Amino acid sequence: MRIGILTSGGDCPGLNAVIRGFAKYAFNQIKDVELIGISDGYLGLITNDAKKMKPSDFSGILNVGGTILGTSRQPFSKMTEEDRNGESKLEKMKENYKEMGLDVLVTLGGAGTHKTAALLSSVGLNVVGIPKTIDNDIYGTDVTFGFHSAVDIATECIDRIHTTAASHGRTMLIEIMGNKVGWLTLFSGIAGGADIILLPEIPYDPDEVVKTVKRRIKNGSAFNIIAIAEGAMTVEESKMKKKELLEHRGGRSTGTELLARYIEETAGVETRVVVPGHLQRGGSPSPYDRLLSTEMGTFAGRLVKQGIYGVTVAMKGNEISYNALADIAGKMKFVPVGDQRIQVARAIGISFGDGK
Ligand code: F6P
Repeated sequence: MRIGILTSGGDCPGLNAVIRGFAKYAFNQIKDVELIGISDGYLGLITNDAKKMKPSDFSGILNVGGTILGTSRQPFSKMTEEDRNGESKLEKMKENYKEMGLDVLVTLGGAGTHKTAALLSSVGLNVVGIPKTIDNDIYGTDVTFGFHSAVDIATECIDRIHTTAASHGRTMLIEIMGNKVGWLTLFSGIAGGADIILLPEIPYDPDEVVKTVKRRIKNGSAFNIIAIAEGAMTVEESKMKKKELLEHRGGRSTGTELLARYIEETAGVETRVVVPGHLQRGGSPSPYDRLLSTEMGTFAGRLVKQGIYGVTVAMKGNEISYNALADIAGKMKFVPVGDQRIQVARAIGISFGDGK
């Protein structure tokens, strides 16, 4: 059996641990297996850039960040567009799947990767997905690998900001990754003891944020920690079209700086913005993610062995399971506004900037 494997979209800790788990399962449990490493995500499948891998290629990578296969973003919307020769990327991928002699393709990726995986499956390729992303936004799985490592990193950032915020009596805004969903901000915000958490799912009122800042100062807390998701929006911003929003923010993709200035001017407090950015995606996976990655990688191996295709691995409850790609592609897992963690946060006085 000849299996192609690729990693697509933004990287995250745990990709190599999944690749290793899958490869070890395949070499140990599937007869006459050949593993073909496809370079840079779907790009390698489009351009036929791949190489046969040996068992030793998968050793020593459990705790290594990034991906040994390389990755790239290949927008789903461009997959069926025809080039000058009238050929689409989808056509090229189909051709190269054949050319490489693949029996199955394993795709490690996030929401976009899953949409393309579902498309490939719908045109007859045997595909098994594995859900990756620090955003934890893949529909149908409780958790994605990479998420908890990012929670650990973001929490450490908030911890470190706490001490300097306290020394200077400042209001600090820590911008956490997640431009559509707020899982990472919610988890790290609570774990890091933020005073205010702002999520894309709960549009905020800047005056409510200022009110909380002033109230805390009045009550004797000299500093404030605000965990704000990249995609957080004010109520006003949430009604704007993309272009209008960008103009309103002076060309910036997030509203963090704008809010920081508003707080400084209105509450009269010294304010700073910290953007940990890609630090949240770099480095070694946490032990939790190493375990989850190994479980998900080996489970994908089992699906391949059993010939269960057109599916993606998932964690449901406490069990590894799977979903049909067609059922989850194009959907997103947002933070429900009534989420248990939101209730817990509100109960201990954390503000979501919505006056509730
Ligand atoms: O989807 C993962 C993610 O890290 C988002 O949280 C973030 O907004 C985005 O990728 C950043 O993408 P890029 O690495 O392309 O700048």
